[in-house]
Amino acid sequence: MKAITIAVMGTSWGDEGKGKIVDFLAEDTDIVVRFQGGNNAGHTVVVNNQKFKFHLMPSGVLQNKEVVLGNGVVIDPAVLIEEIDKLKKININPKLIISSTAHVIFPFHKYIDGLEEKTKKGYAAGTTLQGIGPTYSDKYARFGIRMFDLIDKDLLYPKLEKLFELKKKYVECLGFDFPFDKEEIFNKYLDYGKILKPFIKDTALYLNQAIDDGKKIIFEGAQGSLLCIDHGMYPYGTSSNTWAGGICVGTGISPKRIDKIIGIVKAYTSRVGGGPLPTELGSINKYKKDDPIDIKNHTDDEIGHYIRQKGNEYGTTTGRPRRVGWIDLVSIKYSCILNNFDFLVLTLPDVLGGLKEVKMCIQYEYNGTKINHWPIHSEIISKCKPVYITLPGWEDLSREQWHNIALKGFDALPTNLKNYIFKIEEFLKLPIKIISIGPSREDTILRITKEEIWN
Ligand code: IMP
Repeated sequence: MKAITIAVMGTSWGDEGKGKIVDFLAEDTDIVVRFQGGNNAGHTVVVNNQKFKFHLMPSGVLQNKEVVLGNGVVIDPAVLIEEIDKLKKININPKLIISSTAHVIFPFHKYIDGLEEKTKKGYAAGTTLQGIGPTYSDKYARFGIRMFDLIDKDLLYPKLEKLFELKKKYVECLGFDFPFDKEEIFNKYLDYGKILKPFIKDTALYLNQAIDDGKKIIFEGAQGSLLCIDHGMYPYGTSSNTWAGGICVGTGISPKRIDKIIGIVKAYTSRVGGGPLPTELGSINKYKKDDPIDIKNHTDDEIGHYIRQKGNEYGTTTGRPRRVGWIDLVSIKYSCILNNFDFLVLTLPDVLGGLKEVKMCIQYEYNGTKINHWPIHSEIISKCKPVYITLPGWEDLSREQWHNIALKGFDALPTNLKNYIFKIEEFLKLPIKIISIGPSREDTILRITKEEIWN
C-alpha cells in the first residue's frame, strides 16, 4: 500500500474550522498528528449532534484513529490526562502516542505568561495564558523539561530544581511573588509521568516507520499560518511554527515525505488577541454575547455582532469574544505563497447568510498608495486601509436547509455564494475543493472525490 501524508493548515489567525475538516478526513486515515502549539488551541467537533471540545488531542481521536503529539508540541500533562479521561467516559480508549522529546508546561509557565503579558503592555499578544510562550522560551534556551524526563525521578528532580530556581529569580526580578512549591510540583509531575508513561515514544521513528509501512497520515495544524513565530505578525502571534514548514521540525518527517498541503479559508476573518486587523468590523465591546442581532443600519458594529453571534466566535480555550471582519485575501494570499497549497477548503460561508452584501479585501492602501502584498510588519499593517470589492449576499438559511444543500452538492448552493467562491478562487489562483456549510461531518460539500484526496 502506498503511504500518503496530508497537511491541513489554517490560512489566517486560527479558528478557521480545521478541527472539523480533519475530523471529516480522518475517516480515511490511519494516524492524525499534531506538530506544534499546545492547549492554546481548541477545536470543537460535532458528532451525532453531540459537541466535543479538545485542546490537545488531535481531531481524529473521535474516529478512534491513532493520534500523535509530536516533538514540536508543548504539553500540559494535567490537560492531557483530563482529555484522556473525558474520552474514556464515552468509551474511547485513545490510541495516543506522545513524543518523548515534547516539552512540558509547568504551572509557573502559565503564571509567567500572564506576567509577561502585563509587562509587554502594547506589545502583548493577548495570549491564552496557557504558558505556551514561556515553555517554548525555555525549550530554546535549553532549560526545558521534556516528556522523557517525567518518567524518571532522577532525571526530573535536578532539572526541575534548576528551572524552578531560574524562574523564581526571573519573576522576583520583575517585581512579583513566585507562589509555587517545588516539592509539590515535583510529586504531581512524577504522578503525571506514571500515568502518561505508556504513551511516550520516539514519535519521529514511529512516524517514519508508519510511512514506510504505507500508512495514511494527516498533519493537523493548530492556530493559523499568520500566527507563526517566524512568518506571522510578530509579536502578535504564538510561539511556534504554525505553517506547513513546522511539520518537519515538529515531527521529524522529511519535507520530501509531505504529499499534500490543504489550506483552510474561513469565509470571513476572525482573530483573538492583539495586533492590527485591517478588515475588522466594529468593536468587540459594543455588544454583549446575548444582545439581539439587529442589522437594519448595516453598521460595522452590527455586522460584526451578527457574524460573531452566528459563527459563535467566542474562544474555545478562553471564551473571549473573537474580533471579526471581512475576508482578507491579501493576507490569505501570503499564506498561500508560504504553504504552496494543493487546494483550499472554505468554511463557514453559512454564517454570512442574511447579509445584503458582503465584502472582500483585495488590496491595501498604505501612505496613499495601493499595495497588493501583505506587508508582514505589524507597524505597517496597522497603517493599511483595506480596499474592498462588494458582492451581493445570500440568504439566511436554517440548519436544515443548509443540510439539504449539502446532500445535493455544490450546484445547490445559493448563486451569490457560488460567485463568492469563484471570486476567491480567481484571486488566490487555487481551487476550493471542499466547502463546509455546517458543524457536522454531513454538512460538507466535496468538489473532489475522497479517492482523489487520498491519491
Ligand atoms: P499563545 O499561543 O497563548 O501564546 O497566544 C498568542 C496569540 O495567539 C494570541 O493572540 C492568541 O489569541 C493567539 N492564539 C493562540 N492559539 C490560538 C488558537 O487556537 N486560535 C486563535 N488564536 C490563537
